[in-house]
Order: sequence, then C-alpha cells, then structure tokens
Amino acid sequence: MVNTKVTLCGLELDNPVIPASGTFGYGEEFAALYDINMLGSFSFKGTTREPRFGNPTPRIAECSEGMLNSVGLQNPGIDEVVGTILPQMKAYFHKPVIANIGGFSVEEYVDCAKKADGADNVGWIEVNISCPNVHGGGLSFGTSPAAAAEVTAAVKAVCKKPVIMKLSPNVTNIAEIAAACETAGADGVSLINTLLGMRIDLKRRKPILANKTGGFSGPAVFPVALRMVYEVWEAVKIPIVGMGGVQSARDVLEMILAGATAVQVGAANLREPMVCKTIVEELPRLMASLGISDLSEIRGASHG
Ligand code: FUM
Repeated sequence: MVNTKVTLCGLELDNPVIPASGTFGYGEEFAALYDINMLGSFSFKGTTREPRFGNPTPRIAECSEGMLNSVGLQNPGIDEVVGTILPQMKAYFHKPVIANIGGFSVEEYVDCAKKADGADNVGWIEVNISCPNVHGGGLSFGTSPAAAAEVTAAVKAVCKKPVIMKLSPNVTNIAEIAAACETAGADGVSLINTLLGMRIDLKRRKPILANKTGGFSGPAVFPVALRMVYEVWEAVKIPIVGMGGVQSARDVLEMILAGATAVQVGAANLREPMVCKTIVEELPRLMASLGISDLSEIRGASHG
C-alpha cells in the first residue's frame, strides 16, 4: 500500500492533486462529471471585491502545446461567493477548499481575504499577485519583492487560515519574490501562474486577443514551472504548491521531486475535464511501480 497523503500548511490532503484556480470554476460543473471529493482540494476562480465581467472577447487563443487566455478575472464578487456559492458548495464538496483572491489595491486584497477567511469551508487563502490580464492590479504586486511583501503582510494580519501567495513567472528572479513573501509571513507559495504571451492574426495583422496579450499555459510551460519550483525550494522553507503544464501523475512526481508539497493542475482541465480523476487514480500505481511508499520520501530529492 502506498500513502498519497500530504500536509499543506497544517491541513492534511488525501493526495496532492488540486485543480488550479480559473480552470475549475467553483467546482459544480466538474462535480456533475465525477465525485470531486477524490481530489486533495481545489482552488476556486480568482475572486475580487466587486463582480467582474472580465476582458472583451476574443480572450482565448490556441497555441501548440498550450493556450493563451486573457479572461480578466471574471467572477461574481466576494460577497456572492462567501454568501451563496460557498454554502452551496457544501452539497458537492466536503473538504476544505482553497479561496483564490485577487485585487487592485492592498485594501481590496485585505477585504477579500478577511471575508474568505471567515467561511468555514475555506481551508487556505491563495493570494493571486500574478494575474497578467488586468491593468493596475494582479501582476503589478507580484513583480517586486517589496510589493509582494506588502500584500503578504497585510493579508496575514487579517487571516487565521494559512496564506499562500501565488507567484508570477514573469520576473527575473522568482526565488527572490518567494523569499520576500516568506519573510513577510506567508505560510506557503504557489507557482507558476501563466507566462505573458501573444498571437497575431495573419489576415487582420492584429493581435488575436482583444487584450493584445494573455497568459500562456499548458504542457509547453512544464519545464519552466519545474525549474522555478526547484529554484524556490532552495530559497524558502515554507511549503510550495507547484503548477504549470501538469497533466499526468508523472508530472506530479517530478514537481514533488523538485520540492513541491502539493501540485495544481490547470489548463489540462480545460482540454480533458476528467484529467484530475485520472491523475489521482494513476498516482498510487506509479508510486508503487517506482518503489515510493510515501511522497515525503521524495520531496525535494532531486536537489544536491
Ligand atoms: O485573466 C484571468 O482571469 C486570469 C487570471 C490569472 O491568471 O491569475
């Protein structure tokens, strides 16, 4: 028998597999396809203080081995999520969920965090300081160690639950940002969000996305994400949630070997809605075939 359980910032998960924010909504559509209680947890759509319609369309562009999105944090707002969606979620998801929150100011992050922290089915607050698709928020807090630290400290001051800072790969030194978050009190970091990219329509000779640029995700980014998790593991002691192009149990084990405690699966959910179920089922078989009885045996084992 192998043990797939992991502990993320003090809370035990049955396995490390977590659908990533923005690829799983609030879980309801996926709960109609399979019992999502088999997941470790999931991270719900990045939620802001006010409801947001998101960016103009087109906001998706296909790429080889991945996709670009410029959704623009479309969401119903934190009051609707805490007042209606989270209570309804209890009917189909019986585990603590990860509350992903976004913001355009430190005060907005604080307001959202305080409200999410008060919901009894929220286990962790994941603070998105890395959305590349909005102006004046998101990424602008995630590209400077000082700004990342400021958001971290402000959110930590109002939360009883673990705070995980979601980091951007669109920086020169992601380890430096992770270390700044740790020093400011973060309980964990998650990485990577999407890589800033674009495509151009040959006939119109203009960018395909109405927002011009978008976030690139999918299997092509996996080696970049893995390298960044590896670098961050060497810089911090707090748990790391690895993500970026993960689509198989093999990718999950690579992330854990690089130093991740848990692993999020993003774009793969959009192409194959059952992918997380498949990974959860495949993981113990792959561990057994490799002689791994517990994931703690291999965490960070690729270093040194
Ligand atoms: O545009 C979006 O809603 C994406 C958010 C993100 O990548 O953090």
